[in-house]
Amino acid sequence: MKKTVLPTVKGYKAVELLGSGAFGQVFLVEDELKPNQLYALKIIDPNFFSDQDMYEAAKLELPVLDQLNQKISLLGEWPENIVQYIKHWEDNGTFYILMEFCPDGSLDGIISAHRNPKKKFREDYIKAVCFQIATGLSILHAQGCLHRDIKPENLLCVQPPILKIADYNVSKFVEKSKMAQSVTGTERYMSPQVQMGQDYGKLCDIWSLGVILLEMMTLKKSDEIWRKNNAFIFNKQHYEIPKYWAQEAVAMGYSKEFAEFVGKMLETEESARMSAKDIIASGLFDEIHKERTKQSGSVQPDKKLLMEFQQVRIKLPVLKVISCKKNSMK
Ligand SMILES: Nc1ncnc2c1ncn2[C@@H]1O[C@H](COP(=O)(O)OP(=O)(O)O)[C@@H](O)[C@H]1O
Ligand SMILES: [Mg+2]
Repeated sequence: MKKTVLPTVKGYKAVELLGSGAFGQVFLVEDELKPNQLYALKIIDPNFFSDQDMYEAAKLELPVLDQLNQKISLLGEWPENIVQYIKHWEDNGTFYILMEFCPDGSLDGIISAHRNPKKKFREDYIKAVCFQIATGLSILHAQGCLHRDIKPENLLCVQPPILKIADYNVSKFVEKSKMAQSVTGTERYMSPQVQMGQDYGKLCDIWSLGVILLEMMTLKKSDEIWRKNNAFIFNKQHYEIPKYWAQEAVAMGYSKEFAEFVGKMLETEESARMSAKDIIASGLFDEIHKERTKQSGSVQPDKKLLMEFQQVRIKLPVLKVISCKKNSMK
């Protein structure tokens, strides 16, 4: 395996490579002035990219983060289901994005640990994931931000089990009720409208969340969510297939109520699809709400879930190097 060369960054000591994606590398760094203060640092170095266009595309995350920071700082506290952005700067053509460090891998790692060997997720565990991501999305959407690349690799984990939305590279702010049109994101998680290049709004992210929940229920890989009867079907006529898997999940032991709920995130037409706000407000999460209220407003999922997350954690390397493939369609 190629050895990672740790970068030299003024003011920070690079500790190790956390991940490498299409848009740069992310390192664990320690603040030189405050030892033990750890951060994740995304580095957009022109030398990392084989073509200039990718470097330019990677830089698109910077204005999104500025806008996100500006809007979120008006809310007071930084929401816990969104990775905290701290600052960015430039040095000689290399851009640096400093963020909160999420030490416990990503939802992708958690799902893989269940897939092999096959270990079914409990329904309340999947509900807790759904609730947390919908909470993060409801805040982004209320600020007019479409994330556009919701997938397990971009949902990072911090103990106690809190999932946080990361990676704003292809995100976009739109004015209220305005739509976006560009085809961007990761194909297997893209909503029908995004795939077809039609107008779409914030509900594109809900479709992606629906695909993730199906992956957890069926333990299928996201491309298998698009197959039925062994045929690989991934074209415009077959947007109904993911919803078919939601129905199949009942035979796998999930409640009809929850399966139908997930099905409503996978409605082909945006007008029929649930919003993040609808998801949170539904009665399905009453247990989680009760648990939150008991703990005087602090956001803690129930103890059983905490234990299960910890069990999963033991099986996972704590820091996983994931190489993700972005869709090149832009
Ligand atoms: N804040 C963070 N804490 C821990 N690991 C991170 C953090 N941000 C990113 N990573 C790791 O780096 C990977 C790539 O980062 P990401 O922002 O998703 O870049 P890309 O746009 O290239 O996919 C992530 O999938 C994750 O494994
Ligand atoms: Mg990513």
